[in-house]
Amino acid sequence: MVPIITIDGASGTGKGTVSERLAKQFGWHFLDSGALYRLLAVAAERHQIAFDDVSRLTMLAEKLDVVFAKGHILLEGEYVTEIIRTEAIGNLASKIAALPTARTALLARQRVFRQLPGLIADGRDMGTVIFPDSTCKIFLTASIEERARRRYNQLKEAGREADLTSLVNELTERDTRDKTRAVSPLKPATDALIIDTDKLTIDQVVERIIQAAKMAHLC
Ligand code: C5P
Repeated sequence: MVPIITIDGASGTGKGTVSERLAKQFGWHFLDSGALYRLLAVAAERHQIAFDDVSRLTMLAEKLDVVFAKGHILLEGEYVTEIIRTEAIGNLASKIAALPTARTALLARQRVFRQLPGLIADGRDMGTVIFPDSTCKIFLTASIEERARRRYNQLKEAGREADLTSLVNELTERDTRDKTRAVSPLKPATDALIIDTDKLTIDQVVERIIQAAKMAHLC
């Protein structure tokens, strides 16, 4: 069996940073499932495929030409690492992620990431739908204010424009869509360890997950 730790939660809970840190520390593979939804959103825009055009969208998702290479992401041969990280693409991704056909089409693509020596899977439904047999499921939470503040600081550090009020509004809108969609809504698995990250540093969150992984005999 390939060991796997699933790390789910809303945007801005620190999932991405924590997951990357753990993957590096353990020498395991890393699945950034949100990137797949973001890539599908960019590809659909570029090919002018409407979100209600179910058959073309499914075909696009199944054939999506994506390469993850050493911290970079290529879509149809073009570097899109930065482009997919904008708030606008995040919003489009959450619209596309509410479509059952898009989720089904990306299912197998996510499961192939499970390879030795192990996998850290970051997303919204890693523990509930994609890898329900994981013996170490983590669900990160944080208040909306803290999550918006983190995103604000990230954008500022990257030299980008940022407005705290708009970020709170965008995160709230995205949360509502992610939590209320009919398929794979954002929610903790019944056997997930829930960690409130509001008052914790990244190092402290990583440490708690390592403890949970040890308890599950994964490391
Ligand atoms: O995590 P990230 O912000 O990159 O994800 C972008 C969007 O993709 C999320 O808002 C969510 O709607 C969707 N998503 C999802 N299931 C996942 C990962 C992401 O629905 N496993």
